[in-house]
Amino acid sequence: MRKVFVIGIGTGNPEHITLQAVAALNQVDAFFVMDKGEVKADLVQLRKLICERYIRDHAYRIIEIPDPVRDPAEPSYTNRVEGWHEQRAVLYERALASQLGEGECGGFLVWGDPALYDSTLRILDRVAARGSVAFEYEVLPGISAVQLLAARHRIALNRIAGAIHITTGRNLARDFAELADTTANIVVMLDGELACKQIDPSGVQIYWGAYLGSEAEILVAGQLSECLTEIEQLRRSARAKHGWIMDTYLLRRA
Ligand SMILES: C[S@@+](CC[C@H](N)C(=O)[O-])C[C@H]1O[C@@H](n2cnc3c(N)ncnc32)[C@H](O)[C@@H]1O
Repeated sequence: MRKVFVIGIGTGNPEHITLQAVAALNQVDAFFVMDKGEVKADLVQLRKLICERYIRDHAYRIIEIPDPVRDPAEPSYTNRVEGWHEQRAVLYERALASQLGEGECGGFLVWGDPALYDSTLRILDRVAARGSVAFEYEVLPGISAVQLLAARHRIALNRIAGAIHITTGRNLARDFAELADTTANIVVMLDGELACKQIDPSGVQIYWGAYLGSEAEILVAGQLSECLTEIEQLRRSARAKHGWIMDTYLLRRA
């Protein structure tokens, strides 16, 4: 039976790998890497660095899988993602069947933690359900951008017994307006447009972090009304410098 490890690798610092992940890395014969084009080349590079640094005396190969494009003609976001997942499932299935022998071990290196806004597990479930290639798989957790954000700002994500709501830039305005618990802590990910510009900033604190864990890391914390312009400028210049940006932030009312 083929075995697959889904390994959380943290968000940019090779030292954020767990000992369990290192042990798994040393069993993997073939790593499957989604090639997300030039902009994300740095992210593919980090995965390669991790393999070089932690794998000892074990031959492995890296299989790059091209990332399918989401259909821009499909008006529904959910359908677009659904179609994209199906295309990915077909590519994963093909790669597992053709590039991993019976009894061999495969590995998917997942950015941060596989449980948080990552489609690898959903896609592997699809591949398993299609039934044409048999494999078993195990998930090894990693340090997520959210954990790192809290650590770098030296804060707990929740206030005493308070709730934590994790959402995306796309849903922030709606969630912020609808959350009945005004003491809730709202973590925002996947936010290309800095959606916190759309909410009433009065009394709201922000803890923002970009490129968390990497050498390019940037942190800003303070009143949202006072920090917004600075964060906008930092995002613009960092995106121009690196070609991409990933940021995460926590909002909480005073
Ligand atoms: C597709 S999700 C992946 C999340 C990942 N699985 C995790 O556990 O952090 C990508 C989002 O995670 C956040 N993110 C990932 N890496 C980051 C980093 N190094 N610094 C700040 N935010 C990051 C950003 O909000 C980004 O839009």
